[in-house]
Amino acid sequence: MRRKLPAQPPLPERVRSQLAEEFETRADDPLTTNLREWALERWGVDIAGRYAGRRTRVPFGKASGQLSMTPQQVEADALAGLGFVVLKTVIAQDNTGERGMAAWAIHETHMRVERIEDQDGTSGWTVTWRGRGWDKPFSSYLRLLRAAVPIAAEHDMPVAASVKYHLPASSDEPFRDTEYRYTTQAIAAAWRDAAGKGAPIIEKDFSPTLAGDARSDERANVLRWLREVPRLVEGAGAGPVDLGVKVMNAQFEDAFQVDMLNALEGMPQVRFRVAFNRLFDQERGIAYGGPALGRRNLRALDAFIASHGAPPANLSCTGDIHSGRRMIEYALRGAECGQIHTFFQLPRAAYRSGCASRTAAALHELVLHPEHGLIAWMLALSEMGWIEKRDGVLHFLDVSSHAGSQH
Ligand SMILES: Cc1cc2nc3c(=O)[nH]c(=O)nc-3n(C[C@H](O)[C@H](O)[C@H](O)COP(=O)(O)O)c2cc1C
Repeated sequence: MRRKLPAQPPLPERVRSQLAEEFETRADDPLTTNLREWALERWGVDIAGRYAGRRTRVPFGKASGQLSMTPQQVEADALAGLGFVVLKTVIAQDNTGERGMAAWAIHETHMRVERIEDQDGTSGWTVTWRGRGWDKPFSSYLRLLRAAVPIAAEHDMPVAASVKYHLPASSDEPFRDTEYRYTTQAIAAAWRDAAGKGAPIIEKDFSPTLAGDARSDERANVLRWLREVPRLVEGAGAGPVDLGVKVMNAQFEDAFQVDMLNALEGMPQVRFRVAFNRLFDQERGIAYGGPALGRRNLRALDAFIASHGAPPANLSCTGDIHSGRRMIEYALRGAECGQIHTFFQLPRAAYRSGCASRTAAALHELVLHPEHGLIAWMLALSEMGWIEKRDGVLHFLDVSSHAGSQH
């Protein structure tokens, strides 16, 4: 499958003007929970994605962070028609409350949404924030999970917990497996209490601040984490877990991103992988995103495909997803869904829709925009002969499933 998209979707003028008209007419009344059905009926495009092995209404979900810390946020996303939600990252602890990664539980509320430019002059957005993980008691995180699970079930929107488990600072330091056991068991119990469907979904967060920490200086140590963490979660005595590993952007070259994904290959304990968390600016001591993050992630996935002939299986992508076009760029590299934080935080003027729900306004942009939206680009892929209809329908998930093929 080719991967370099043209700047504009090559569509007949008639289609282009219909898309533009629908984008306008739907702006004040976004389709929210009817989005998938509408796209299917109106355009013959199935925009369903897949997250943690579950089908999602749309391929766009909320990435772990400050926008998934309360049941109200989860409910608003469910009503807006979002695909899935990953809750904020909690720091693992043992049964006495000891936390090897306590330095990541710091309180910080202030976020700044700022313009950022890539070296090549492309401009975009980043969120500047000095906080880290969940800074309230672990018990309150379990309450959040118990409240989120039924909301998710009611709206057919998978929800996931996110955990920062203990990671040893050097190769001779052992893992604190008591933290893995206590935390995973507690999350699994909360999931079951709330009648969660199937196994609990847990993402293991390897964050940019971790990438900037001295414990990530040793490549061998980082690769050891990736090989051991899935075994520790599986061996936690919590029953089956649908584990996702959210791989960081390390301070090394692109080839090391491939090495990290390689470390996860063939591990039955890993249900899915998330590529890749934000970049880290050592000088300023802050994480950042924007176009440089998107470029780095796409490049690293290209390098993986070049060496394997196929993308990583069960892939969820994150990083500068601000359009349906960018979602397609990730799908052409194997992504079955995309996790977004920054695009849900832009100033209101950045969205055409004035809808009260920012998530709904963002989805309207991501799916319906006549030049950057998912439908326009699905139709464009068909027009270019990159995908074909099945049963009379173009399927978003076919883009990722054909990502390794040579036509
Ligand atoms: C303010 C903020 C807080 C975040 N907190 C977390 C977190 O707790 N756990 C995590 O795995 N990722 C966290 N992230 C990373 C996001 O989940 C996401 O992967 C990343 O920002 C890239 O997506 P974006 O370009 O759409 O922002 C955070 C990002 C931001 C901007």
